Amino acid sequence: MHLKIAVLGGDGIGPEVLKQSVKCLQAVAETFGHNFTFTDGLVGAAAIKKTGSPLPDATLELCKKSDAILFGAIGALEYDNDPNARVRPEQGLLKLRKELDLFANIRPVKVFPILAPKSPLKEHIIKGTDFVIYRELLGGIYFNEKKLSEDGTKASDLCEYTEGEISRIAHMAFKAAKRRRKKLTLVDKANVLETSRLWRRVVTNIGESYPEVELNCLFIDNAAIQIILDPRQFDVILTENMFGDILNDQGSVVLGSIGLLPSASVGTKNAMFEPVHGSYPQAKGKNIANPVASILSVAMLLQHFGLFEEANAVVAAILKSFQKNIVTSDVMGSSKYGTNYVGDFIAENIVDSDDNLTM
Ligand code: IPM
Ligand code: MN
Repeated sequence: MHLKIAVLGGDGIGPEVLKQSVKCLQAVAETFGHNFTFTDGLVGAAAIKKTGSPLPDATLELCKKSDAILFGAIGALEYDNDPNARVRPEQGLLKLRKELDLFANIRPVKVFPILAPKSPLKEHIIKGTDFVIYRELLGGIYFNEKKLSEDGTKASDLCEYTEGEISRIAHMAFKAAKRRRKKLTLVDKANVLETSRLWRRVVTNIGESYPEVELNCLFIDNAAIQIILDPRQFDVILTENMFGDILNDQGSVVLGSIGLLPSASVGTKNAMFEPVHGSYPQAKGKNIANPVASILSVAMLLQHFGLFEEANAVVAAILKSFQKNIVTSDVMGSSKYGTNYVGDFIAENIVDSDDNLTM
């Protein structure tokens, strides 16, 4: 298969973890006889510095022409410390999502048994956790009207949803549940918010076309408790943009390190794959960042294109790194391998084997 892949490293540790992902994709191409081509693009604070824009036109064009996008991370301390900055790195990512119509953000939270003892939560509570969050990515409070009064004393962000925006991701989530353990949980705040009540109506109606899937509704405040108290109860979680943003990060606690969580953002044409973690500017260039989240995102990319054996080979190589304790310091505490070393080990262990039946 020939795939044109745009590589958007972005800020902080983004470029260094993406380097490991590219290495792994090259290993997959060699092992399985594919042709993947990679083109770098500027985004985020790095792009602002060079061009004045967090998403230069050239990068957007590159992404539109590519089959898939590998994304690193976005954000820099100078902007975090200056909430009034008008041009911000995050705008690059938000614009990219909007322009490419990436309306569904898919984030799996699956506990690797060998790492279960390393979670900050009790092993018997998290062992066997395997759920996936479907977060709506283009609507709600993120993308609707924002206002600040002239005197600067009043601000608002409008939360708005249309039936169409809800139904396209709801269908995707129901289909995922149908393939999995057939349980869908809609997370909302329908006791207070009109948008949440619309979500409930639309999702409940759509649910009638998926009779094999059990639909539950949960308020966001309760969901925040349940994800920590009993994460195994979840299969597919469906939610709106802002709730999804928060719940995703909370889900990462179950695994023990945010450096282990991959994600995919998909739409009608394009697809983008990125680690859940942020730019972690304090670790930039220190060769300590965990590349696993980014490499697992590569596995999601391969799955997206139907390359399941290849995806399994990547996951099997990652599992091998866990078994041999070849991990960065955020995972096991005791071992302190560098980003490059872990990336090399995983890439070198990508093999075409019947034993790769892991996903
Ligand atoms: C995420 C990030 C982004 C978001 C930021 C960087 C705009 O937190 O992908 O979860 O809030 O969506
Ligand atoms: Mn987030």
